[in-house]
Amino acid sequence: MFITFEGIEGCGKTTQAKLLCEALVDREYSVVLTREPGGTPAAEELRSFLLKPREEKFPPFAELSVYEAARSFHVENLIKPSLKEGAVVICDRFIDSTLAYQGYGRGIDLSLVERLNQEATGGLKPNLTVLLDLPVEEAFRRISERRKDRIESENLKFHQRVRQGFLEIARREPERFLVVDGRKEVGELHTLILSEVLRRLGAL
Ligand code: TMP
Repeated sequence: MFITFEGIEGCGKTTQAKLLCEALVDREYSVVLTREPGGTPAAEELRSFLLKPREEKFPPFAELSVYEAARSFHVENLIKPSLKEGAVVICDRFIDSTLAYQGYGRGIDLSLVERLNQEATGGLKPNLTVLLDLPVEEAFRRISERRKDRIESENLKFHQRVRQGFLEIARREPERFLVVDGRKEVGELHTLILSEVLRRLGAL
């Protein structure tokens, strides 16, 4: 089973991905917890390249290409082999982040982003995607203390487009998505997510 977590910065997805991983390991599932961009040595190098603040302009198409290149390394070297071995793969961000950030956020044609997502993954899609939805103002409050990377430093309007993008994608594929209110308490969210995952694992 392939599970992804999505949402804007500060939505709590990294915490929830870890909690889900621990709960499944406790139940003796073989689990691989990974993230995008990143997850393999080459993809982690591309992550540093992507997130580093820089003086030079980073054109949207260059950004899209590097996210897709990192994904291609990740799918080929880690995600596909792990699924083949029967592991549950939990990934912090995946294809929907590219549609939301580079498509809805940067304004790149959505069909181009979808095409490149398709190429980078060979058509692999998550069985379940958990979207932690949160108002952008609340997310900004949560991340105000940390040092921001290149994408986190974008303005409120950019992140609002990204949030609306995620909600739109989830509306188009309701059977793949579990949309939860990221303002809920951590333990309550975890219980909700875990019960959905266990239900789906039972049905596999
Ligand atoms: P993270 O903060 O969740 O680790 O994600 C790193 C940043 O990369 C985050 O600001 C979202 C951004 N991102 C994209 O813009 N497009 C993508 O395809 C992915 C996977 C992440």
